[in-house]
Amino acid sequence: MKSENSKTILLTGGAGFIGSHLVRHLVKKYPFYQIINLDALTYAGNLENLKDIEEAENYTFIKTDITNAEKIQALFNAYKFDSVIHLAAESHVDRSISDPLAFAKTNILGTMNLLNSFKNLWQNQWKDKLFYHISTDEVYGSLGKTGFFTETTAYDPNSPYSASKASSDHFVRAYGETYGLPFIISNCSNNYGPYQFPEKLIPLFINNIILNKKLPVYGAGKNTRDWLYVVDHAKAIDKVFHEGKQGETYNIGGFNEWTNIDLINLLCDLMDEKLNRPVGESKKLISYVKDRPGHDFRYAIDASKIKNELGWKPSVNFEQGLEKTIDWYLKNQKWLENVTSGEYLKYYEKQYGN
Ligand code: NAD
Ligand code: DAU
Repeated sequence: MKSENSKTILLTGGAGFIGSHLVRHLVKKYPFYQIINLDALTYAGNLENLKDIEEAENYTFIKTDITNAEKIQALFNAYKFDSVIHLAAESHVDRSISDPLAFAKTNILGTMNLLNSFKNLWQNQWKDKLFYHISTDEVYGSLGKTGFFTETTAYDPNSPYSASKASSDHFVRAYGETYGLPFIISNCSNNYGPYQFPEKLIPLFINNIILNKKLPVYGAGKNTRDWLYVVDHAKAIDKVFHEGKQGETYNIGGFNEWTNIDLINLLCDLMDEKLNRPVGESKKLISYVKDRPGHDFRYAIDASKIKNELGWKPSVNFEQGLEKTIDWYLKNQKWLENVTSGEYLKYYEKQYGN
């Protein structure tokens, strides 16, 4: 018998970077919720990320691919999820350039399978139900030197990744309009922190500095990103899930813009300090390479809505967050070794040629 406060939440992509932080946060904070983590364990999913909570009574892991419509429907029928928090996705822009179809399959069709199963299960009995879709600021395209993305900025995606995420956002909204399915979408800026797969800028460069490998800076290094510590994103998702208004979008961001080259220089200085290397040593590894095709120039989130309406703001400043992140990677080099062996090496060779 469920208590009044209990919920059965399907969290997809919980073995990935953001998902694992969110699973940990919810499992610990809400012992009366059942958190069901559904993940296909692709190269980006890793159960080692959840070692510390895997025995928790309110946590269950299920290995399934969201592109498998039948299995997904069977799970919805068996568990009767009241809420879905959907993070599972192909998430790396460079991979979307070499294999766009994989992104359409998981990010668009996978999202549609979840929407259909949710709709089939509840058949318009929507009281206390919610489909919360986790999306990205990349759906808004690229900014020039000024301005911010707000919740009303028109979608203008430039990469196969952002096009697939934009499409999934549109389907979620369309199911809301057409079938009355209760939904919320949030669009977040670049996350960083522990457990991020070392294909993304910050962990890739930390790993390369440790290994004395080149730091491949795309183009002139002037592209700008707005960075948010991943635990702050998990807390924002918690806020939106519990207090957000159905049918609304919330932008989540760190008010924290850095050009890539400024960020890389800071990272190099911190790494020299942590590794007791002479000042300037890591910067010697910087190597300017061919730009990413369709490379968005600048992302910057106006997070006023979530701040004013829900009272959320980032709690970790960038210098602290970056130091925590570096310390974690230096302490967890075994994790790095494990995730960079095998398949990832083939990808690295294809992407960077060494
Ligand atoms: P990630 O790549 O680290 O993790 C993705 C997870 O999804 C992995 O555990 C993987 O195994 C799982 N997955 C992939 N395909 C699947 C499938 N077909 N079926 C089931 N599981 C599958 O991604 P992340 O960086 O943690 O991003 C999570 C979500 O947040 C994504 O939807 C992404 O678009 C969004 N997002 C990410 C960022 C960021 O900076 N990383 C920012 C904004 C939004
Ligand atoms: O904005 C949110 C998005 O942030 C998320 O939706 C994506 O899932 C996430 O991957 C991230 O996308 P980016 O493309 O911004 O992140 P990435 O870490 O790949 O790159 C950050 C910047 O660094 C970008 O301008 C490209 C540049 N870069 C990246 C890599 C991997 C380099 O210069 N060299 C590199 O080797």
